[in-house]
Amino acid sequence: PEAGCLSIVVLGASGDLAKKKTFPALFNLFRQGFLLSNEVHIFGYARTNISTEGLRERLHGYLGKGNEDSTKESDYLSKFLQLIKYVSGSYDSEEGFLLLNKEISEHETSKNSQPGTSRRLFYLALPPSVYRSVCRMIRSYCMNQSDLTGWTRIIVEKPFGKDLSSAEELSAQLGELFDEKQLYRIDHYLGKELVQNLLVLRFANRFFLPLWNRDNIDNVQIVFRENFGTKGRGGYFDEYGIIRDIIQNHLLQVFCLVAMEKPVSLKPEHVRDEKVKVLQSVLPIQPEEVVLGQYDGYKDDPTVSPQSNTPTFATVILRIHNERWEGVPFILKAGKALNSSKAEIRVQFKEVPGDIYKCQKQGRNEFVIRLQPLEAMYMKLTVKKPGLEMSTIQSELDLSYTQRYQDVTIPEAYERLILDTIRGDQQHFVRRDELKAAWEIFTPLLHKIDDGDLKPLLYKPSSRGPPEADQLLAKAGYVQTHGY
Ligand code: BG6
Repeated sequence: PEAGCLSIVVLGASGDLAKKKTFPALFNLFRQGFLLSNEVHIFGYARTNISTEGLRERLHGYLGKGNEDSTKESDYLSKFLQLIKYVSGSYDSEEGFLLLNKEISEHETSKNSQPGTSRRLFYLALPPSVYRSVCRMIRSYCMNQSDLTGWTRIIVEKPFGKDLSSAEELSAQLGELFDEKQLYRIDHYLGKELVQNLLVLRFANRFFLPLWNRDNIDNVQIVFRENFGTKGRGGYFDEYGIIRDIIQNHLLQVFCLVAMEKPVSLKPEHVRDEKVKVLQSVLPIQPEEVVLGQYDGYKDDPTVSPQSNTPTFATVILRIHNERWEGVPFILKAGKALNSSKAEIRVQFKEVPGDIYKCQKQGRNEFVIRLQPLEAMYMKLTVKKPGLEMSTIQSELDLSYTQRYQDVTIPEAYERLILDTIRGDQQHFVRRDELKAAWEIFTPLLHKIDDGDLKPLLYKPSSRGPPEADQLLAKAGYVQTHGY
């Protein structure tokens, strides 16, 4: 039983991630009764010189937006704000972290927490350049002193390094300070409803079990598109690019869940063992199976280098060397400033052998899982066109979450993942060896791009990206289907 009080520390409390994701997720958990006033305290820590009142006012400004007229909501919000305290200090200052520790300890004493049972969660909403010093400070001054049911856990966000060696260096540094059990590497795609559904779909449905392999599946696409550009994040983005920002982490995590073998059980280690295995089975990426793009106008951003070679779009084909997937291309595609915003998985089946209906030109069977917007999954299939004539059309078996689960609010990814951290469930977090295997796949390609050996093609904003990407898709065997 984890009866001790809970202190949540948001480091980087005045930054953008804290504002957009961390605090809103904490507030939602509080509204739903997952964080209780009598046991939780939330500490904001940052360099900005403001008071607790100052932080509360800021939070009030953005958390209360849109609900100004609801007394119930404003009541929740003022109760939530009462839990917040702010400590100002720099990320390498002993005094700052000693003060933070003092505040946390006072909170624990005020809640009569039994020695050894208190829980401390540190959320690093910070740039990676300060991870190391912050983690040192936490380790030296802010650990829960306990060997009972209490704990100290650290949530870290990507980017976890820029390539294999820098990621390994960071992992080694954090590994010296904390045990793997204490480190929660967040990839928020793992908290999305339909991503969490992937293993259920695959392993709890007889429909899919016999079909999910190279005998039946022709190709798989995992796609992320955004209809806006870097939106004020040009400085960060130009250093990382779309492969490091989206593909190496978010899409690759989805890839793992689509392609991995069945885990022994749902224990976090069992699931993550299988993810590592499939990552290790990926063959080296071939440069001719990559298309890079950069949208026209990207370099107009003053924070972006005028010579930038950074891709804002990429299509990369991964090939798995194992019994299940030999020969099936997994097409990972991500782009900014495209014609729509969407994230989806498209599993395209092979054609029906000995087709007597001549229906293949209408399209193949496809199973589509739309992660966002409007969560849905649908199967494209051939049916008889209703009516007197015997002809066929493509139609869909459609499970649209907004229609089927009208009274369920789908939780934000961050809410779920913070709750998992409090509960100590690491299944939806990236393990150190998984991270390493992910970097092993992309590092050679990234180095080629960094060295200027591979250059992005210019594409028009609000387009589908460079036409060469569609040509690569067609070459890989994808057949465009109609409708939907
Ligand atoms: C972040 C990337 O990790 O994910 C952003 O840094 C991207 O560039 C965002 O916009 C997309 O997340 P979501 O949940 O909106 O698909």
